[in-house]
Amino acid sequence: MRSPKDFFRPLAVGAPEPVREIPFRPSRMLHFFPPNNEKMRSKVPSLVGKVDVLVANLEDGVPMAEKDAARAGLVDVAQNVDFGSTQLWTRVNSLDSPWCLADIRAAVIEAGHAVDVIILPKVEGAEDIHYADRLIAQLEAEAGLTRPILLHAILETARGVANVEEICLASPRMQGLSLGPADLAANRRMKTTRVGGGHPDYLVRSDPDPDNPDADRATFQQDLWHYTIARMVDACVMAGILPYYGPFGDIRDTTACADQFRNAYLLGCVGAWSLHPDQIAVAKEVFSPSAEQVSHARRVIDAMGDGTGAIMLDGKMEDDASVKQCQVVVRLAEQLAASDPELAALYEMGS
Ligand code: GLV
Ligand code: MG
Repeated sequence: MRSPKDFFRPLAVGAPEPVREIPFRPSRMLHFFPPNNEKMRSKVPSLVGKVDVLVANLEDGVPMAEKDAARAGLVDVAQNVDFGSTQLWTRVNSLDSPWCLADIRAAVIEAGHAVDVIILPKVEGAEDIHYADRLIAQLEAEAGLTRPILLHAILETARGVANVEEICLASPRMQGLSLGPADLAANRRMKTTRVGGGHPDYLVRSDPDPDNPDADRATFQQDLWHYTIARMVDACVMAGILPYYGPFGDIRDTTACADQFRNAYLLGCVGAWSLHPDQIAVAKEVFSPSAEQVSHARRVIDAMGDGTGAIMLDGKMEDDASVKQCQVVVRLAEQLAASDPELAALYEMGS
């Protein structure tokens, strides 16, 4: 048992106090780069201000022989790049790997002044968060950091999905969750070999025509990830943290990428990963409400006066609940416009 009061006490003497609310900062695209690659690292300053979040990836995608170079690359950008309003996150190797301890140590001790969030992959339960939470607190104290580094977990094992609520509630340090469709598919023994996205064989078929039973029957592709994303969104909202779609591997298919991202946006996600510069614009567009959505939401809010009762607007019923739906859209638009002058102009809001 633990007193709720203890939840907000630092887990190590000298560590910063945990946050009580996860600050909402735009994070429509978590743009991954390999810090072991010098050419990619040199492009980091040109991405500042163009993406909401830069993620120095130390985990999958970095060859074993370059794990040390990736960690050194993270420290290099953290110490030499001015990130301005762009956040710097890092994805460390999983807790059972030979690199995780050195990754977390470097991320906090050498890069911690610049790192906002550590992404922990393959999280299976609250015990993983508790371990990382205490370790990060000890390192924050050693580094003399004055603001806590937040934690983001990737949902990429069946056990992680089964324990998603306890993962979200494990620590005030928890910032959010991403779907990890590639590892999750492998762990669940799903038979898709794609990184995110749908599968043409996952479908339902219309009934046969009784008068022409041999005629072609329409099929409708279903979304493989619907259940997991919906579950992840509920767990995150319950805990006051933020849900994200993960990677979409078919870089050339920006249309299907936008569709997957949009489904996630409509279900409540606030962003997605971008693995290639072409996906930055896709995520920005999808995770920012359109001008039409914002102006419609404002019209409903204005027409609803004090927000109670029921009215008819354009033949549709609006009431206390639908005004709250509209407030979600306007609040998001305001939060994004506060740091994006282009969106502020589009929404006709002062930035
Ligand atoms: C991401 O890490 C994934 O496994 O999809
Ligand atoms: Mg993964």
